[in-house]
Amino acid sequence: MYKIKDMKKRDFNPRFKWGTATSSFQIEGNIDADGKLESIWDRFAKTPGKIKDTEHAEIACDHYNLWKEDFDLLEKLGVNSYRFSISWPRVVQSDLKQENPKGIEYYDRLVDDLLSRNIDPFVTLNHWDIPQEFQEKGGWVDRESIEYFLDYVDIITNNLGDRVKNWITHNEPWIIAYLGYNEGTHAPGHKSLEKTLAVNHHLLLSHGLSVPIIRENSKDSKVGIALNLNPAYPASSSEADIKAAQLFDEYFNAWYLEPLYGNQYPENIIKSWKNEGKLTQGLDFIKDDDFKVISEPTDFLGINYYSRAIIRCSKTEKHKNLPVEIVPGEKTKFDWEVFPQGLEELLVRINKDYSPKSIFITENGASYDSDIQETEDINDVKRIEYLESHIHACKKAVDQGVPLQGYFCWSLMDNFEWAEGLNHRFGLIHVDFDTQKRIPKRSYKWYQKFLKDEINIYQK
Ligand code: FCB
Repeated sequence: MYKIKDMKKRDFNPRFKWGTATSSFQIEGNIDADGKLESIWDRFAKTPGKIKDTEHAEIACDHYNLWKEDFDLLEKLGVNSYRFSISWPRVVQSDLKQENPKGIEYYDRLVDDLLSRNIDPFVTLNHWDIPQEFQEKGGWVDRESIEYFLDYVDIITNNLGDRVKNWITHNEPWIIAYLGYNEGTHAPGHKSLEKTLAVNHHLLLSHGLSVPIIRENSKDSKVGIALNLNPAYPASSSEADIKAAQLFDEYFNAWYLEPLYGNQYPENIIKSWKNEGKLTQGLDFIKDDDFKVISEPTDFLGINYYSRAIIRCSKTEKHKNLPVEIVPGEKTKFDWEVFPQGLEELLVRINKDYSPKSIFITENGASYDSDIQETEDINDVKRIEYLESHIHACKKAVDQGVPLQGYFCWSLMDNFEWAEGLNHRFGLIHVDFDTQKRIPKRSYKWYQKFLKDEINIYQK
């Protein structure tokens, strides 16, 4: 296998963006403060049975109040960038047309403070935290509702666009569409493949329509979208598994990559859905020129990478489809395999197939149980190993010509992990959700040293 020498931060481009990522709903809490509207996640989290252990995000990390303290820790960490998201319900009034000055002021303060610390803000416009009013007007299922999103994009980029120069339109449309509209495990909790595909389409369309608005309001800024990509590896070299892996790739990855980079939706998965009788209404939400809008050129592709998928065909009887050649390795608490090689291979493939102008790893990280226990020295060695091996994979991809320009670790601190409530800790900083005390873990200290260029990352 390809090997590189022990590596230091200085082996990356000096302009490389090193950061951490968070999202509004997962950290801010204070769901009614200063005229904030109800979010679809407020509604979902209050619905019995939706969040594990009936935890809610009414307080989360109380970052709405404690942001300065959190930014002190962010600055001490030594990052040059920080990715966070705007809560759409905080910054507009119930007509979704007028701004809520108090909400805007909050994000104004965050941006100014980050800049005063020489930390470059990367702002996500939609990290799932969207107004219930928008949902009631039809939400992402409804093409007409895109207008409301564009109004919000206009408001935010008008207000912050002079200072924020990196914009991410949507975070992980796959999760919004499939978990929110097919599985029903995320807000708004629907279960329909037809709706899911319409939601996907309108998210992509609204992404394409947002780009010129952002460019107009935020001169010389860079715009992209963040996709959660999950490379598929067939469990064996049988034809059945190879085909199943290709179909998985089409529905999970190519469904977004193809239209964003100038093509149509992938065909095999559409045929397969039709054959299974799942697409009774077809794809009639697609209108002329939509693909032109979706493929509006962007400056970067954001990739959230956590793991790979090992795909085994479920239609072939197991005993007729042997041997299984790939078995997953070590896993994180979410049962996600630790597979850094997948990141390297994904980056190389994306570069070869789509040639994005540049790429950022907008999320990468791991949750483990080791850090639940609160001590002054939280030894999250597994997280360190996870991050180390994935940063190494980034470097290998860079060495193969991939235009990777940044890496954002998920997450700055433990936070509200959606339907999993407070059960998954991804942070470099431990948060005591009762007292709101923050304790930097060993992974924080490790990243800090790496960023100071004091330590090597070893090839394992
Ligand atoms: C991603 C989300 C992020 C966080 C991580 C663990 O899918 O974008 O908000 O929940 O997973």
